[in-house]
Amino acid sequence: MTSQQIRQKFLEFFEKRGHAIVPSSSLLPDDKSVLLTTAGMQQFKPHFIGQADPVHDFGSRNTASIQKCFRTSDIDEVGDESHLTFFEMLGNFSFGGYFKKEAIEYAREFIVKELGLKIDYVSVFEGDSEVPADIESERIWKSLGVHDVRKFGREDNFWGPTGNEGPCGPTTEIYINGVEVWNLVFNEYYCLPDKSLKKLERPGVDTGMGLERLAAAAQGMPTIFETDLFAPIKDALKVLSPGKDLGEREIRHVRIIADHIKGAIFLISDGVVPSNVEAGYVLRRVLRKLIRYAKLLELPGDWFTVIFTEVAEIYGAAYPKLENYRNEILTAIKNEEEKFAKALEKGTKEFEKLAEKAKAAPRDPEHLEISGADAFALFETYGFPLELTGEMAAEKGIAVDEESFRREFKKHQEISRAGTEKKFGGHGLSVEAGELRAATPEELLKVTRLHTATHLLHQALREILGSHVKQMGSDITPERLRFDFAHPQKMTDEEKKRVEDLVNEKIKEDLPVLMEEMNFEEAIKQGALAFFKEKYPERVKVYSAGNFSKEVCGGPHVSRTGEIGKFRIAKEESSSAGVRRIKAMVETIV
Ligand code: SER
Repeated sequence: MTSQQIRQKFLEFFEKRGHAIVPSSSLLPDDKSVLLTTAGMQQFKPHFIGQADPVHDFGSRNTASIQKCFRTSDIDEVGDESHLTFFEMLGNFSFGGYFKKEAIEYAREFIVKELGLKIDYVSVFEGDSEVPADIESERIWKSLGVHDVRKFGREDNFWGPTGNEGPCGPTTEIYINGVEVWNLVFNEYYCLPDKSLKKLERPGVDTGMGLERLAAAAQGMPTIFETDLFAPIKDALKVLSPGKDLGEREIRHVRIIADHIKGAIFLISDGVVPSNVEAGYVLRRVLRKLIRYAKLLELPGDWFTVIFTEVAEIYGAAYPKLENYRNEILTAIKNEEEKFAKALEKGTKEFEKLAEKAKAAPRDPEHLEISGADAFALFETYGFPLELTGEMAAEKGIAVDEESFRREFKKHQEISRAGTEKKFGGHGLSVEAGELRAATPEELLKVTRLHTATHLLHQALREILGSHVKQMGSDITPERLRFDFAHPQKMTDEEKKRVEDLVNEKIKEDLPVLMEEMNFEEAIKQGALAFFKEKYPERVKVYSAGNFSKEVCGGPHVSRTGEIGKFRIAKEESSSAGVRRIKAMVETIV
């Protein structure tokens, strides 16, 4: 059974049982409390906690999806038999539709009847002082003839939350060939930032099953790397390194390359750009590791073009758009390779000095160490990821103080975030976006164009839908704008088209964008829109685009609307009750 057949079987199985099929969300999540999408449930957080209505959004209380996921938590384990950074998660979800009995029955039926696999054993939550033991799940499993029910605590059988807070609850897990394959979460609680639990009004079901592990079981393979999701990449890498004997070390390198290349490809296709912060840094680490291992395997210069083709083929049926990103992906890898090559050359010299320093004046002669501050300087100046410094140091028998590196890193991230906020002027983008993703001058230019487009969109919505439209949130990345606004119902296609046309008309008119400083009261008197919850200072900046839009805002903006480029609404969807969300883009100006 191919992995594409497994995907199809899974979706059909749940569709037949009244689930709405929802596409994978991006690896860059809307939920700002997390860096990347790590689980299928993430896009449904508002539905679990009653902030969004599943029937309205999906036409059903039950959904199923195949979600692209990226987990950095396992990055150091990649190379063994089962850990990955990028993987796909098959999941079925219920928001107050069904609960334990149906969820367990569906899971068992799918594994045993549809796939013909044997369940080794299952696990359930053993209970603690706060959350009772899940005897109901145990009883259901036994009634279905699964008698090996093992019990574990919070560490193993309790999920969540993703980010600081969110839905969470006890889990029951299915094991096949000794490996955990499917995790069924019963979201009965909301976990608050202080870790206390609040009972959810409406319990929900969130399940997740790793496609790669399931494919290994269904295809009778000893590890995920022999499945059809990996074998073609592995084979191609072997062809590309003909002289190499593949020993244990090389096998590890091949696995790391096979995993990381997928991660890089999917991150780039979701709009991540390599940088030294946040998701961009995750991508940079993955790319640099790839480049390093490719060197160790002595792969030829164009290895990634060959491997990209393999990846696009493996995922072509499920993600046909991947092929469209070929140029972007190959260029991003090439650019990073060039940057890294330069950095490596210079950085290695600096590294040698640091290694000498560590040897010359050791605090503890038994334990030679490069300090966190020195490792961080290597990172900041030469882009050396921590693990690179760590590995190079290990070859010389020297350790790196990783903990203090992480402290330095965190400090740097905070300073960089504060700097970006300052650039965007106190309030304005930074306040609403919370987190800006403009790390370079080019990105700043792009978010600036999207920012002015947001003003035009806001005004256009008010003209077409009515003046009840009010900004509820805005978030801008170099790839897209995201605008939340008060409006009671879904926009029709015609309304979307009219809004889009009106914005494009105003762009064509090439209206001047002017800024004036005035007292807040005066701005309001002049009809400027102001919508931040934050308190305004007495004097504010007001940006206007011709006579079309006027808003209190911190900027920055383009100087004429013509600079924005063609505007396109990509998506209109529910954000929460009474709030709609538009994602839109502007064409690339080269
Ligand atoms: N949220 C759970 C997981 O990611 C089940 O989907 O494992």
